[in-house]
Amino acid sequence: MTPVPVLSASSITKVFQAGGKQLTALRGISIAPLAGETFGIIGESGSGKSTFGRIAVGLEMPSSGELYIEGERVDDLPASLRRKKFLRCQMIFQDPYSSLNPRLTIGKQIGEAIYAQGVLDWRQIRGDVGELLEKVGLRRDSADRYPHEFSGGQRQRIAIARALAPSPRIVVADEPVSSLDVSIQAQILDLLASVQNEHLLCYILISHDMSVIARLCDRVAVMHRGRIVELGPTSSVIGTPQHPYTRNLLDAVPRLGRRRSGHGPTTAALPTHGDDDNLIEISSGHFVLQSTAM
Ligand SMILES: Nc1ncnc2c1ncn2[C@@H]1O[C@H](COP(=O)(O)OP(=O)(O)O)[C@@H](O)[C@H]1O
Ligand SMILES: [Mg+2]
Repeated sequence: MTPVPVLSASSITKVFQAGGKQLTALRGISIAPLAGETFGIIGESGSGKSTFGRIAVGLEMPSSGELYIEGERVDDLPASLRRKKFLRCQMIFQDPYSSLNPRLTIGKQIGEAIYAQGVLDWRQIRGDVGELLEKVGLRRDSADRYPHEFSGGQRQRIAIARALAPSPRIVVADEPVSSLDVSIQAQILDLLASVQNEHLLCYILISHDMSVIARLCDRVAVMHRGRIVELGPTSSVIGTPQHPYTRNLLDAVPRLGRRRSGHGPTTAALPTHGDDDNLIEISSGHFVLQSTAM
């Protein structure tokens, strides 16, 4: 049986109007990550990764294409219903300094996210906040403190707790460790992995760093100028990169280019990639953009 994708994006495009000009940030993105899967998106700055991430959590609307959450189409829902549905999709941002409100205690910020999904009893909210804080490795009494009292790594833990508060199925983490000290990065990546196992979350992990992708991702999509140029099991993409752009990315981390990562697909039957006619399958679940005209 083919597993049902938690999130399914089909031919998503995004055109921005900027200073009287049109800027096409996404040119037909189709991905379908599964429950329990960590799906990586890698590409250089400006390739459209964050734009896709924001669309996946409902912060931005696609210009065309279709988006499904747990099989239900969501891009054409009226705003009020869309907001409710997108509680299932939460985001962790790169900068834990600007993503938290400096004027609210972290208990209030996490509690609001619990309230938003319909829990109205403050005692229960308070208890849930404490549990979430412990889950991310912080003390329960952190709830009464303000963001500035925490380090960058601790703030990212708070951001993770807040993202988990509405019991999401999908978490988009956009460069979740790139603003942190290298010594802290592994701790946060390990935390993300352990939280995922517990909740069978689907992660979309956006990064420009192949070593971060190799550490966590089951599959990876390589984005270049708003397109996916290669997509497949991480071990396959890293071990036998097909597209010149992927090879360039890997050349920047030669250790990874030579060695295969230990990751493989989580399921035997990966769903097909989608209907993008230019992507051809070169081995099981591993697709590459046919045209190399970039
Ligand atoms: N709100 C916006 N208005 C206009 N252009 C935007 C907006 N957001 C992103 N872009 C443009 O879209 C392209 C992709 O940006 P982004 O998704 O942030 O890339 P990445 O996350 O891969 O660095 C860039 O050219 C960027 O300038
Ligand atoms: Mg970005």
